[in-house]
Amino acid sequence: MAIERTLAIVKPDATRKGVVGEAIRAAEEAGLTPVAIRRIHLTRAQAEGFYAVHRARPFFADLTAFMSEGPVVVMALEGPDAIATWRRLLGATDPGKAEEGTLRRRFGTNIQANGFHGSDGGETAAFEMGYFFAGLEIP
Ligand code: RTP
Ligand code: MG
Repeated sequence: MAIERTLAIVKPDATRKGVVGEAIRAAEEAGLTPVAIRRIHLTRAQAEGFYAVHRARPFFADLTAFMSEGPVVVMALEGPDAIATWRRLLGATDPGKAEEGTLRRRFGTNIQANGFHGSDGGETAAFEMGYFFAGLEIP
């Protein structure tokens, strides 16, 4: 298994619920180490920049309004197959369809306010980590 890094976000709904620790615990129990962490309240423009790949999707306006409604906690996670491992811990996009025990099933609210984000591939992970962290902030 390759050692990878991925970008994880505890979205505004989950940050408000006080489950940042649960996300870190799940990551660590799966062998993923948080190598950088920050808390930030995104502006609407910053949320639009992060989700630019989705700008043509019907849910883009709602999604970027939601992502900028309160603080998020952003983490770079490192470990074996980090990208797939973290997405497996999240479960399906819709918390109602996510597998029992996954973070979205446990703490998500609905298909939009689904608690957590994870990069979906290597290129996305590199873009997303660079969006939040300067090179020197991730050793
Ligand atoms: P994410 O990027 O946040 O990790 O989630 P994902 O890959 O599972 O889902 P994606 O298709 O990339 O969608 C990004 C986020 O947009 C919101 N969404 N809303 N209203 C809707 O039908 C809908 N579909 C997606 C969710 O917040 C989703 O995580
Ligand atoms: Mg996605």
